[in-house]
Amino acid sequence: MSWQIKPLAVRGPLFEGAIRVYGDAFAEPPYSDPDRGEEIRGRMQELHRHRQGFNALVAVLPGDEVVGMTYGYNGGPGQWWHDTVLKALPAKLAADWLSDSYELVEIAVSPSHQSRGVGSALIRQLLEARSERTCVLSTRTDSRAHELYRRHGFEMITEMVFAPRGAPFYVMGKRLRED
Ligand SMILES: CC(C)(COP(=O)(O)OP(=O)(O)OC[C@H]1O[C@@H](n2cnc3c(N)ncnc32)[C@H](O)[C@@H]1OP(=O)(O)O)[C@@H](O)C(=O)NCCC(=O)NCCS
Repeated sequence: MSWQIKPLAVRGPLFEGAIRVYGDAFAEPPYSDPDRGEEIRGRMQELHRHRQGFNALVAVLPGDEVVGMTYGYNGGPGQWWHDTVLKALPAKLAADWLSDSYELVEIAVSPSHQSRGVGSALIRQLLEARSERTCVLSTRTDSRAHELYRRHGFEMITEMVFAPRGAPFYVMGKRLRED
């Protein structure tokens, strides 16, 4: 399989493909949430694309069939994820990881194309030209995705829940600059 990584705008055929892939990936366990594709469409178009540092990519097969997607932006005060993680961490750790951070917000690869390197290529390219000090993300402890992030240089920051009685998540971070 040969794929290519392309920039993703938040409307048009590539965007529709990205939403489809995202919905298919998160319909599988442990998420089992088939509605998540439509939720992310609204969040990306109305909220996330306006955030500083927003960038988004898709992996496509010849003919522009989308098999993977990812995006992120700068974390900052007033954002739900940033503020929730900030409060959960001791002040020094929070300052270290969150004061100049890029958030890897979402990544998904079509179930039929997983474990072939698409996710790795998306992560590498998404982070390639970032100038922030850190990249941070959260991932459910019962998913295998944390193994992939470790291989890309992410370390464990903490384990926490984001909602009462919600699933536990690892919060992970990678240093993009050494200062
Ligand atoms: C996580 C994910 C983006 C990785 O993409 P990928 O193209 O499979 O990644 P790569 O081929 O570069 O790396 C494969 C590694 O990813 C992880 N992985 C593979 N399938 C996975 C899955 N269904 N769920 C979680 N992690 C998975 C494993 O660590 C795997 O290593 P292995 O093949 O040695 O077991 C993709 O599997 C996916 O979309 N999973 C479902 C959605 C998800 O969990 N997103 C991340 C939320 S934080």
